[in-house]
Amino acid sequence: MERLLLDGLPEKEWGNSSINRTLVVPISNRHSIMFLTFGTSRSRGRHLNQQMYASRDLLSIRFSRWCRPQYFGQFVFSISMLILAGCGGPQSALEPAGHAAQDIAEIFWWMTAGGVVIWIAVIALTIYAVRIPPEAHNQRRTSYLIIGGGAIVPTIVLTVLLVYGLAPLPHLLAPAPEGSLRIFVSGEQWWWRIRYEVPGKEPVVLANEIRLPVGEPVEFRLDSPDVIHSFWVPSLAGKIDMIPGRTTRLALTPTRTGVFRGACAEYCGTSHALMSFYVIVHTREDFSRWLAHQQTPVIPSDAAVPARGRELFLASGCGACHTVRGTPANGVIGPDLTHVGSRLSIGAGSLPNNAEALLRWIARTEHVKPEVLMPAFGMLPHEDLQALAIYLEGLK
Ligand code: CUA
Repeated sequence: MERLLLDGLPEKEWGNSSINRTLVVPISNRHSIMFLTFGTSRSRGRHLNQQMYASRDLLSIRFSRWCRPQYFGQFVFSISMLILAGCGGPQSALEPAGHAAQDIAEIFWWMTAGGVVIWIAVIALTIYAVRIPPEAHNQRRTSYLIIGGGAIVPTIVLTVLLVYGLAPLPHLLAPAPEGSLRIFVSGEQWWWRIRYEVPGKEPVVLANEIRLPVGEPVEFRLDSPDVIHSFWVPSLAGKIDMIPGRTTRLALTPTRTGVFRGACAEYCGTSHALMSFYVIVHTREDFSRWLAHQQTPVIPSDAAVPARGRELFLASGCGACHTVRGTPANGVIGPDLTHVGSRLSIGAGSLPNNAEALLRWIARTEHVKPEVLMPAFGMLPHEDLQALAIYLEGLK
């Protein structure tokens, strides 16, 4: 690209310019692709002239295939479709399923629309500037244009966008009404400890999965025992940090049923990217049924394989870290496994929830989630691992 510039320009025009710091930006127009150059030159006075020279001389240069006008449209279309395909799904802030997410998506679209309008205006002015004949301009008019376009317009636009962007904050940060469902979430390395407070009953403890009733406000109380995490369910609300020694709050109201994915949005260590969770929004009846079921302890199975798995679970010391209510296992270091078989994933979204994945998790924990606290139990015979996996899968 630098050679092109040099070829296209009379040597003397560049003089002492520092070519190394020249940036070349391709821009499509009706006939061909134009290159706008931004460079730093030691002879600053001639900088604008050089830009114009560069752009004009390069207009007729042949470009790679996709840059040609007939392909450029297709190229832009394909890229746009590819990008837009990422706008949906269970973890998209652009497909809101909660009041807070709705507000945020609205801000995003207004900001985007504003950005597009400004971008088009700037590009149009640039093309105009490149195309007008290089002649002396009215000094006063030019100064007005620079002050107006460079200082006044941006100040107005940014102030309007700032006020518009900040306006929903009080609403987004407001606590849920008194008596709303309250869920405590603690960010662990690297999973989510979840506790539902049920008035008059024992709290319900689970991991990596949150269920909510549709249309009802809920308040999350968030904290962390060691490092900072960030709790984010893009489809339902904005993100909020989980800070050791502090309790942060997040209120939201889901507006439709469905399965949504949440993630940790703050780097928190080696397996930060393997720390996701699911939020399932139910109707009120389904939610109440689910919560009542979560409160029940495990009912021991009479079948031989799960019984062997249970025996191994207790004998191998799993109960030192995990709780399975209804058994002697009552550890609190790792996730509560009382109803682990009913969850959508294991290892905080790392693997699907089935016996095969559970076996892999138990035998090669470190391979699934690097630096995880849980030791791998790959030394156990395969039948034992299978029995353990089948036992855990059966904890519905
Ligand atoms: Cu937890 Cu990143």
